[in-house]
Amino acid sequence: MKLKREKWGSRLGFILAAAGSAVGLGNVWKFPYIAGENGGAAFIFVYLICIAVIGLPVLIAEVLLGRSTHRNPVGAFRALSKSKFWTAVGGMGVFAGFVILSYYSVVAGWSLGYIIEAIKGTFYDYTTTTSSGEHFGGLVSNVFWSIGYLAAFMVLTMVLVYRGVQKGIESGSKIMMPILFILLIVLMIRGLTLPGSEAGLSFLWSPDWSKISANSILIALGHAFFTLSLGMGAMMTYGSYMSKEGNIPAASTKVVFLDTLIALIAGMAIFTAVFATGQDPAAGPGLIFHTLPVVFIKMPGGYIFAILFFILLTIAALTSAISLLEVVVAYFVDERGWKRHRAVITFGIVIFLLGVPSALSFNLMADATLFGLTFFDVADFLAANILLPLGGLFIAVFVAWVWGFDKALIKMKVGAEAIFENSGWLIVLWKIFLKYFAPILIFLVFLSSIGILPKIINFFTDLF
Ligand code: PHE
Repeated sequence: MKLKREKWGSRLGFILAAAGSAVGLGNVWKFPYIAGENGGAAFIFVYLICIAVIGLPVLIAEVLLGRSTHRNPVGAFRALSKSKFWTAVGGMGVFAGFVILSYYSVVAGWSLGYIIEAIKGTFYDYTTTTSSGEHFGGLVSNVFWSIGYLAAFMVLTMVLVYRGVQKGIESGSKIMMPILFILLIVLMIRGLTLPGSEAGLSFLWSPDWSKISANSILIALGHAFFTLSLGMGAMMTYGSYMSKEGNIPAASTKVVFLDTLIALIAGMAIFTAVFATGQDPAAGPGLIFHTLPVVFIKMPGGYIFAILFFILLTIAALTSAISLLEVVVAYFVDERGWKRHRAVITFGIVIFLLGVPSALSFNLMADATLFGLTFFDVADFLAANILLPLGGLFIAVFVAWVWGFDKALIKMKVGAEAIFENSGWLIVLWKIFLKYFAPILIFLVFLSSIGILPKIINFFTDLF
């Protein structure tokens, strides 16, 4: 009934593609500013624990579900359970693919546009963060600029996914991930060698425990999901192209290691430069688009480093965007019998159209709000605070309690015999984390997201 399903060309291919999915705007744009806002080192400590105790175990579970079934998220659950409920969980992942990619590519489009701004040298016209913030505001409220770059970024994503798993996603990741890594190291060295960079380092590495609150723990946990691309089947889909010989726990650990390393290096590159040039480290989401351009024009060689930085950010976003589109495409190819090319073109366009109101949230549609949130905010809130944690919770519960541990272990052992023989305790740890820690902690994050709802409703009622 089926055409031969695609596969990764090599083990490294899977690792680089999965690391490409994980490393994205979450690492370079979001991680530095949330670490900055939540106490630097103390927050990073909590984040690392979340990654180890929940991120890695859930990642292993997702990849395992994919490799065991060789299916997209819907097909994977359907292959292992008769219940419609679990198929719907897979369907929620495909839906999340639409939602996340639609607003993710808006920010990625800005980054693409900023490469051109950097090349044109426009940053030199704005010497304070206030004026560079206005410059940014002016660009995103220009409909042609924001929709144009959204479309351009979407086309890049579609080209890679159109070419297929090996020729598009894998080859693209093999080229882009090393470039990304080198650019980041160059930027980190530039940051570290600026006079006054120590202040940035001590901001990142000397813990201010007083800033740790229940809320910042929840932010760390939520971010662990987002940054590892967990909870919506992206890693499951990538796992489904893995051959039986792949070593799932080893490959997953490498992906987590790379993702964490890159977030930490990005944090160092950014904060050393921010402190050395006397900017505000707690600038929030605008840190990259408002603060960094001013940082660049104040540092020697900044013209070139600005261009390199936005190329880096765009590459990081692109290798994540292809994994989001691939989830949607894999579903239509596996379950509905569509041709890859048709699925890529159709859903690339559909997701672009869905992204338009998000892009317009910063201009024409800024006043079209739901509970005080713009379309962009609603998409982000829905994805990061509801769909991903809920999906992650269900994946952990499914593997640990429904499919059953013993069956999961038999599948996982294939390719990972050495770990089972020599380090059995790691497997026991995985079991404890996935069965108890992950579901309980994720449930708490989820409740906290829901806890935000009353605040939104209050905000809304206050308007009247
Ligand atoms: N992990 C990506 C990032 O850090 C975002 C992402 C989330 C990608 C979910 C795929 C799926 O930017």
